[in-house]
Amino acid sequence: MTTAEWTERYQGAVMNTFGTPQTVLVRGEGSHVWDADGKQYLDLLAGIAVNALGHGHPAIVEAVTQQLTTLGHTSNFFATEPQVRLAEKLVELVGHDARVFFTNSGAEANEAAFKISRKTGRTRVVVAEGSFHGRTMGALALTSKEAYRAPFEPLPGDVSWVPYGDAAALEAAVDETVAAVLIEPIQGEAGVVVPPDGYLQAAREITTRHKALLWLDEVQTGVGRTGAWFAYEQSGIVPDVVTLAKGLGGGIPIGACLAIGEAATLLQPGNHGTTFGGNAVATAAALAVIATIETDNLLGHVITVGDQLRRGLVDHPLVADVTGRGLLVGVVLRHPLAAEAQKAALAAGIIINNATPERLRLAPPLVLSENEAAHAVMVLRSVLDEVSA
Ligand SMILES: Cc1ncc(COP(=O)(O)O)c(C=O)c1O
Repeated sequence: MTTAEWTERYQGAVMNTFGTPQTVLVRGEGSHVWDADGKQYLDLLAGIAVNALGHGHPAIVEAVTQQLTTLGHTSNFFATEPQVRLAEKLVELVGHDARVFFTNSGAEANEAAFKISRKTGRTRVVVAEGSFHGRTMGALALTSKEAYRAPFEPLPGDVSWVPYGDAAALEAAVDETVAAVLIEPIQGEAGVVVPPDGYLQAAREITTRHKALLWLDEVQTGVGRTGAWFAYEQSGIVPDVVTLAKGLGGGIPIGACLAIGEAATLLQPGNHGTTFGGNAVATAAALAVIATIETDNLLGHVITVGDQLRRGLVDHPLVADVTGRGLLVGVVLRHPLAAEAQKAALAAGIIINNATPERLRLAPPLVLSENEAAHAVMVLRSVLDEVSA
Protein backbone atom coordinates (compact mmCIF):
# COMPACT_ATOMS: atom_id res chain seq x y z
CA MET A 1 0.00 0.00 0.00
CA THR A 2 1.37 3.41 -0.96
CA THR A 3 1.06 6.69 0.93
CA ALA A 4 -1.52 7.84 -1.64
CA GLU A 5 -3.64 4.72 -1.14
CA TRP A 6 -3.52 4.99 2.68
CA THR A 7 -4.39 8.68 2.45
CA GLU A 8 -7.47 7.88 0.40
CA ARG A 9 -8.59 5.28 2.94
CA TYR A 10 -7.91 7.75 5.78
CA GLN A 11 -10.13 10.31 4.13
CA GLY A 12 -12.88 7.73 3.67
CA ALA A 13 -12.92 6.71 7.33
CA VAL A 14 -11.41 9.38 9.61
CA MET A 15 -13.25 12.62 10.45
CA ASN A 16 -11.81 15.57 8.63
CA THR A 17 -10.57 17.60 11.61
CA PHE A 18 -6.86 17.68 10.71
CA GLY A 19 -7.03 18.26 6.94
CA THR A 20 -5.06 16.07 4.55
CA PRO A 21 -2.17 14.26 6.29
CA GLN A 22 1.28 15.37 5.10
CA THR A 23 2.18 11.72 4.58
CA VAL A 24 1.49 8.32 6.13
CA LEU A 25 4.14 7.15 8.57
CA VAL A 26 4.73 3.44 9.06
CA ARG A 27 7.91 3.10 11.15
CA GLY A 28 10.24 5.03 13.44
CA GLU A 29 13.65 4.49 14.96
CA GLY A 30 15.58 7.02 17.03
CA SER A 31 15.16 10.45 15.44
CA HIS A 32 13.95 9.04 12.10
CA VAL A 33 10.61 7.94 10.67
CA TRP A 34 9.67 6.32 7.36
CA ASP A 35 6.55 6.76 5.26
CA ALA A 36 4.52 4.15 3.39
CA ASP A 37 6.52 4.84 0.22
CA GLY A 38 9.78 4.04 2.06
CA LYS A 39 10.96 7.66 2.27
CA GLN A 40 13.05 8.48 5.37
CA TYR A 41 12.62 11.67 7.42
CA LEU A 42 14.62 13.25 10.22
CA ASP A 43 11.87 14.01 12.74
CA LEU A 44 12.42 17.48 14.18
CA LEU A 45 8.87 17.65 15.53
CA ALA A 46 8.68 14.35 17.48
CA GLY A 47 4.88 14.09 17.47
CA ILE A 48 4.80 17.78 18.52
CA ALA A 49 7.19 17.62 21.47
CA VAL A 50 6.04 14.13 22.47
CA ASN A 51 8.63 11.51 21.45
CA ALA A 52 11.16 12.69 24.04
CA LEU A 53 13.35 9.61 23.57
CA GLY A 54 12.73 9.41 19.84
CA HIS A 55 11.00 6.43 18.23
CA GLY A 56 11.16 2.86 19.50
CA HIS A 57 13.46 3.62 22.44
CA PRO A 58 14.33 0.30 24.15
CA ALA A 59 13.70 1.71 27.66
CA ILE A 60 10.07 2.55 26.80
CA VAL A 61 9.54 -0.66 24.83
CA GLU A 62 10.82 -2.70 27.75
CA ALA A 63 8.91 -0.79 30.43
CA VAL A 64 5.63 -0.99 28.52
CA THR A 65 6.08 -4.66 27.61
CA GLN A 66 7.06 -5.61 31.14
CA GLN A 67 4.14 -3.70 32.70
CA LEU A 68 1.59 -4.98 30.17
CA THR A 69 2.61 -8.57 30.81
CA THR A 70 2.45 -7.97 34.58
CA LEU A 71 -0.65 -5.77 34.99
CA GLY A 72 -2.02 -3.60 32.21
CA HIS A 73 -4.96 -1.69 33.63
CA THR A 74 -6.97 -1.37 36.79
CA SER A 75 -9.75 1.02 37.70
CA ASN A 76 -8.97 3.91 40.01
CA PHE A 77 -10.64 1.92 42.77
CA PHE A 78 -7.13 0.47 43.00
CA ALA A 79 -3.61 1.84 43.08
CA THR A 80 -0.72 0.36 41.11
CA GLU A 81 3.02 0.37 41.71
CA PRO A 82 4.12 2.39 38.66
CA GLN A 83 1.40 4.98 39.35
CA VAL A 84 2.62 5.52 42.91
CA ARG A 85 6.27 5.55 41.80
CA LEU A 86 5.61 8.09 39.07
CA ALA A 87 3.64 10.38 41.39
CA GLU A 88 6.49 10.19 43.93
CA LYS A 89 9.06 10.89 41.21
CA LEU A 90 7.15 13.94 39.95
CA VAL A 91 6.81 15.25 43.51
CA GLU A 92 10.57 14.72 43.96
CA LEU A 93 11.28 16.65 40.75
CA VAL A 94 9.03 19.51 41.89
CA GLY A 95 11.01 19.53 45.15
CA HIS A 96 8.09 20.79 47.25
CA ASP A 97 5.08 19.27 48.95
CA ALA A 98 2.95 18.38 45.93
CA ARG A 99 0.28 15.93 44.79
CA VAL A 100 -0.48 14.59 41.33
CA PHE A 101 -3.68 13.92 39.38
CA PHE A 102 -3.02 11.76 36.31
CA THR A 103 -4.79 12.27 32.99
CA ASN A 104 -4.40 11.07 29.40
CA SER A 105 -3.64 14.35 27.63
CA GLY A 106 -2.68 17.97 28.03
CA ALA A 107 -6.23 19.27 27.68
CA GLU A 108 -7.37 16.92 30.43
CA ALA A 109 -4.52 18.01 32.70
CA ASN A 110 -5.75 21.57 32.19
CA GLU A 111 -9.35 20.53 32.87
CA ALA A 112 -8.22 19.16 36.23
CA ALA A 113 -6.38 22.40 36.98
CA PHE A 114 -9.43 24.44 35.89
CA LYS A 115 -11.52 22.50 38.45
CA ILE A 116 -8.85 23.10 41.10
CA SER A 117 -9.11 26.83 40.37
CA ARG A 118 -12.91 26.72 40.90
CA LYS A 119 -12.39 25.05 44.28
CA THR A 120 -10.62 28.19 45.54
CA GLY A 121 -14.09 29.70 45.88
CA ARG A 122 -13.30 32.22 43.14
CA THR A 123 -14.06 31.76 39.45
CA ARG A 124 -12.06 34.21 37.36
CA VAL A 125 -9.07 32.90 35.39
CA VAL A 126 -6.64 35.35 33.79
CA VAL A 127 -5.10 33.96 30.61
CA ALA A 128 -2.58 35.28 28.11
CA GLU A 129 -3.35 36.20 24.52
CA GLY A 130 -1.71 33.78 22.10
CA SER A 131 -2.23 30.92 24.55
CA PHE A 132 -3.03 27.34 23.65
CA HIS A 133 -4.31 25.06 26.38
CA GLY A 134 -6.27 22.39 24.48
CA ARG A 135 -9.49 21.66 22.64
CA THR A 136 -11.91 20.31 25.27
CA MET A 137 -14.58 22.83 26.22
CA GLY A 138 -12.87 23.94 29.43
CA ALA A 139 -9.39 24.11 27.93
CA LEU A 140 -10.82 25.84 24.86
CA ALA A 141 -12.33 28.54 27.08
CA LEU A 142 -8.72 29.29 28.07
CA THR A 143 -7.30 29.11 24.53
CA SER A 144 -7.08 32.41 22.71
CA LYS A 145 -7.46 31.62 19.02
CA GLU A 146 -10.83 32.99 17.91
CA ALA A 147 -11.19 30.49 15.04
CA TYR A 148 -10.90 27.57 17.47
CA ARG A 149 -13.34 29.09 19.95
CA ALA A 150 -16.08 30.75 17.90
CA PRO A 151 -17.97 27.64 16.67
CA PHE A 152 -18.30 26.34 20.23
CA GLU A 153 -19.47 29.37 22.16
CA PRO A 154 -20.75 29.63 24.83
CA LEU A 155 -17.70 28.24 26.60
CA PRO A 156 -17.16 28.21 30.37
CA GLY A 157 -16.95 31.85 31.41
CA ASP A 158 -15.23 34.32 33.70
CA VAL A 159 -12.02 34.30 31.70
CA SER A 160 -10.03 37.55 31.31
CA TRP A 161 -7.35 38.10 28.67
CA VAL A 162 -4.06 39.93 29.01
CA PRO A 163 -1.23 40.43 26.51
CA TYR A 164 1.47 37.75 26.94
CA GLY A 165 4.70 38.88 28.57
CA ASP A 166 3.25 42.15 29.89
CA ALA A 167 3.70 42.24 33.67
CA ALA A 168 1.96 45.63 34.00
CA ALA A 169 -1.16 44.27 32.25
CA LEU A 170 -1.14 41.31 34.63
CA GLU A 171 -0.83 43.64 37.60
CA ALA A 172 -3.85 45.61 36.35
CA ALA A 173 -5.94 42.48 35.68
CA VAL A 174 -5.40 40.56 38.91
CA ASP A 175 -7.35 41.33 42.06
CA GLU A 176 -9.07 39.42 44.90
CA THR A 177 -11.67 37.97 42.48
CA VAL A 178 -9.08 36.03 40.51
CA ALA A 179 -8.86 32.28 41.15
CA ALA A 180 -5.84 31.66 38.94
CA VAL A 181 -3.45 33.13 36.43
CA LEU A 182 -2.66 30.64 33.66
CA ILE A 183 0.55 31.04 31.67
CA GLU A 184 2.75 28.96 29.36
CA PRO A 185 6.39 29.62 30.38
CA ILE A 186 7.09 29.68 26.62
CA GLN A 187 4.12 29.80 24.22
CA GLY A 188 4.54 26.74 22.02
CA GLU A 189 1.64 26.75 19.57
CA ALA A 190 2.01 30.52 19.12
CA GLY A 191 5.41 29.73 17.55
CA VAL A 192 7.82 29.47 20.51
CA VAL A 193 7.24 32.92 21.99
CA VAL A 194 9.45 33.64 25.00
CA PRO A 195 8.29 36.27 27.51
CA PRO A 196 10.68 39.00 28.71
CA ASP A 197 13.00 38.21 31.63
CA GLY A 198 11.24 38.70 34.95
CA TYR A 199 7.72 37.97 33.64
CA LEU A 200 7.18 34.70 35.50
CA GLN A 201 8.68 36.21 38.65
CA ALA A 202 6.23 39.14 38.35
CA ALA A 203 3.35 36.70 37.81
CA ARG A 204 4.43 34.82 40.94
CA GLU A 205 4.60 38.00 42.99
CA ILE A 206 1.24 39.34 41.75
CA THR A 207 -0.63 36.06 42.29
CA THR A 208 0.86 35.58 45.76
CA ARG A 209 -0.15 39.11 46.75
CA HIS A 210 -3.77 38.55 45.63
CA LYS A 211 -3.93 34.93 46.89
CA ALA A 212 -4.60 33.68 43.36
CA LEU A 213 -3.10 30.45 42.04
CA LEU A 214 -0.19 30.64 39.62
CA TRP A 215 -0.97 27.85 37.13
CA LEU A 216 1.72 27.09 34.60
CA ASP A 217 0.90 25.04 31.52
CA GLU A 218 4.06 23.01 30.90
CA VAL A 219 2.35 20.53 28.59
CA GLN A 220 4.81 21.49 25.85
CA THR A 221 7.75 22.90 27.84
CA GLY A 222 7.90 20.28 30.62
CA VAL A 223 9.85 17.06 31.14
CA GLY A 224 13.22 18.28 29.92
CA ARG A 225 12.26 20.00 26.68
CA THR A 226 13.84 23.34 27.66
CA GLY A 227 16.83 21.75 29.42
CA ALA A 228 15.17 21.65 32.86
CA TRP A 229 12.55 19.26 34.22
CA PHE A 230 10.15 22.21 34.27
CA ALA A 231 10.76 25.44 32.35
CA TYR A 232 9.67 27.48 35.40
CA GLU A 233 12.79 26.35 37.28
CA GLN A 234 14.81 28.51 34.88
CA SER A 235 12.99 31.56 36.34
CA GLY A 236 13.64 30.52 39.94
CA ILE A 237 9.98 30.46 40.94
CA VAL A 238 7.59 27.83 42.30
CA PRO A 239 4.03 27.79 40.88
CA ASP A 240 0.90 26.45 42.60
CA VAL A 241 -0.29 24.26 39.74
CA VAL A 242 1.63 22.73 36.81
CA THR A 243 0.16 20.77 33.93
CA LEU A 244 2.17 18.22 31.95
CA ALA A 245 1.54 15.79 29.08
CA LYS A 246 3.28 15.41 25.68
CA GLY A 247 6.86 14.38 26.53
CA LEU A 248 5.92 12.75 29.83
CA GLY A 249 5.07 9.37 28.28
CA GLY A 250 7.47 9.63 25.36
CA GLY A 251 4.61 8.69 23.01
CA ILE A 252 2.36 6.73 25.35
CA PRO A 253 -0.61 8.98 26.19
CA ILE A 254 -0.38 10.42 29.70
CA GLY A 255 -0.84 13.82 31.30
CA ALA A 256 -0.53 15.09 34.85
CA CYS A 257 -1.80 17.98 36.90
CA LEU A 258 0.60 18.73 39.76
CA ALA A 259 -0.52 20.95 42.60
CA ILE A 260 1.84 22.33 45.21
CA GLY A 261 1.14 23.29 48.83
CA GLU A 262 -2.45 24.20 49.69
CA ALA A 263 -3.57 23.88 46.06
CA ALA A 264 -2.89 20.14 46.35
CA THR A 265 -5.77 19.70 48.79
CA LEU A 266 -8.51 21.56 46.89
CA LEU A 267 -9.85 18.59 44.92
CA GLN A 268 -11.59 16.25 47.33
CA PRO A 269 -13.09 12.76 46.87
CA GLY A 270 -15.81 12.90 44.23
CA ASN A 271 -14.62 16.18 42.71
CA HIS A 272 -12.85 14.66 39.70
CA GLY A 273 -12.13 11.35 38.05
CA THR A 274 -11.01 9.46 34.96
CA THR A 275 -11.03 5.83 33.84
CA PHE A 276 -7.65 5.76 32.13
CA GLY A 277 -5.73 8.48 33.99
CA GLY A 278 -2.81 6.94 35.87
CA ASN A 279 -3.00 3.72 33.86
CA ALA A 280 -0.23 1.30 34.84
CA VAL A 281 1.29 0.98 31.35
CA ALA A 282 1.29 4.75 30.76
CA THR A 283 2.85 5.48 34.14
CA ALA A 284 5.49 2.76 33.56
CA ALA A 285 6.36 4.45 30.24
CA ALA A 286 6.69 7.84 31.95
CA LEU A 287 8.98 6.36 34.61
CA ALA A 288 11.19 4.98 31.81
CA VAL A 289 11.27 8.41 30.10
CA ILE A 290 12.29 10.18 33.31
CA ALA A 291 14.88 7.50 34.23
CA THR A 292 16.46 7.73 30.76
CA ILE A 293 16.61 11.54 30.86
CA GLU A 294 18.44 11.17 34.18
CA THR A 295 20.83 8.35 33.30
CA ASP A 296 21.71 9.75 29.86
CA ASN A 297 22.14 13.32 31.21
CA LEU A 298 19.73 14.58 28.58
CA LEU A 299 18.98 17.92 30.28
CA GLY A 300 22.49 19.19 29.50
CA HIS A 301 22.43 17.59 26.05
CA VAL A 302 19.16 19.38 25.23
CA ILE A 303 20.79 22.77 25.89
CA THR A 304 23.86 21.91 23.77
CA VAL A 305 21.94 20.61 20.76
CA GLY A 306 19.27 23.33 21.00
CA ASP A 307 21.97 26.00 20.92
CA GLN A 308 23.62 24.21 17.99
CA LEU A 309 20.36 24.37 16.00
CA ARG A 310 19.81 28.06 16.83
CA ARG A 311 23.41 29.03 16.06
CA GLY A 312 23.24 27.17 12.76
CA LEU A 313 20.12 28.99 11.60
CA VAL A 314 20.30 32.48 13.14
CA ASP A 315 22.48 34.06 10.44
CA HIS A 316 20.46 32.86 7.44
CA PRO A 317 19.24 35.94 5.52
CA LEU A 318 15.58 34.83 5.74
CA VAL A 319 15.80 34.42 9.52
CA ALA A 320 14.87 37.43 11.66
CA ASP A 321 15.32 35.67 15.01
CA VAL A 322 15.66 32.29 16.68
CA THR A 323 13.69 31.75 19.88
CA GLY A 324 13.03 29.25 22.64
CA ARG A 325 15.19 27.28 25.01
CA GLY A 326 16.74 23.85 24.74
CA LEU A 327 14.98 21.75 22.13
CA LEU A 328 11.93 23.96 21.80
CA VAL A 329 13.18 26.07 18.93
CA GLY A 330 11.39 28.87 17.08
CA VAL A 331 12.67 30.25 13.78
CA VAL A 332 11.14 33.63 13.00
CA LEU A 333 11.20 34.39 9.26
CA ARG A 334 11.43 37.86 7.74
CA HIS A 335 8.57 36.99 5.36
CA PRO A 336 5.45 34.82 5.78
CA LEU A 337 7.05 31.78 4.15
CA ALA A 338 6.74 29.24 6.97
CA ALA A 339 4.20 27.04 5.16
CA GLU A 340 6.41 26.92 2.05
CA ALA A 341 9.46 26.15 4.21
CA GLN A 342 7.65 23.34 6.02
CA LYS A 343 6.63 21.75 2.67
CA ALA A 344 10.12 22.14 1.19
CA ALA A 345 11.66 20.65 4.35
CA LEU A 346 9.32 17.66 4.15
CA ALA A 347 10.29 17.12 0.51
CA ALA A 348 13.95 17.32 1.63
CA GLY A 349 13.32 14.68 4.32
CA ILE A 350 12.95 16.84 7.44
CA ILE A 351 9.79 17.15 9.55
CA ILE A 352 9.23 20.61 11.06
CA ASN A 353 6.13 22.68 11.83
CA ASN A 354 4.88 26.02 10.55
CA ALA A 355 3.32 27.29 13.77
CA THR A 356 2.32 30.63 12.22
CA PRO A 357 2.86 32.15 8.74
CA GLU A 358 6.19 33.63 9.95
CA ARG A 359 7.28 31.12 12.57
CA LEU A 360 8.73 27.64 12.23
CA ARG A 361 8.77 25.38 15.27
CA LEU A 362 11.27 22.59 15.93
CA ALA A 363 10.68 20.23 18.87
CA PRO A 364 12.91 17.25 18.09
CA PRO A 365 13.48 14.19 20.27
CA LEU A 366 15.63 15.09 23.30
CA VAL A 367 18.03 12.39 22.07
CA LEU A 368 18.74 14.21 18.77
CA SER A 369 22.48 13.77 18.23
CA GLU A 370 24.91 16.55 17.35
CA ASN A 371 25.48 14.87 13.97
CA GLU A 372 21.74 14.79 13.30
CA ALA A 373 21.48 18.46 14.34
CA ALA A 374 24.36 19.36 11.99
CA HIS A 375 22.61 17.54 9.14
CA ALA A 376 19.33 19.31 9.99
CA VAL A 377 21.00 22.73 9.90
CA MET A 378 22.57 22.00 6.52
CA VAL A 379 19.28 20.83 4.96
CA LEU A 380 17.16 23.56 6.57
CA ARG A 381 19.54 26.29 5.36
CA SER A 382 19.17 25.03 1.79
CA VAL A 383 15.38 24.83 2.30
CA LEU A 384 15.39 28.49 3.43
CA ASP A 385 17.53 29.38 0.35
CA GLU A 386 15.00 27.60 -1.84
CA VAL A 387 11.92 29.36 -0.46
CA SER A 388 13.67 32.78 -0.46
CA ALA A 389 14.48 32.46 -4.17
C1 LIG B 1 0.79 24.31 26.09
C2 LIG B 1 -0.21 23.28 25.70
N1 LIG B 1 -1.23 23.00 26.53
C3 LIG B 1 -2.15 22.07 26.22
C4 LIG B 1 -2.09 21.36 25.04
C5 LIG B 1 -3.14 20.35 24.73
O1 LIG B 1 -2.62 19.06 24.87
P1 LIG B 1 -3.39 17.81 24.23
O2 LIG B 1 -3.33 17.99 22.75
O3 LIG B 1 -2.60 16.62 24.72
O4 LIG B 1 -4.77 17.82 24.75
C6 LIG B 1 -1.04 21.61 24.16
C7 LIG B 1 -0.97 20.89 22.87
O5 LIG B 1 -0.36 21.31 21.93
C8 LIG B 1 -0.08 22.60 24.49
O6 LIG B 1 0.94 22.89 23.67
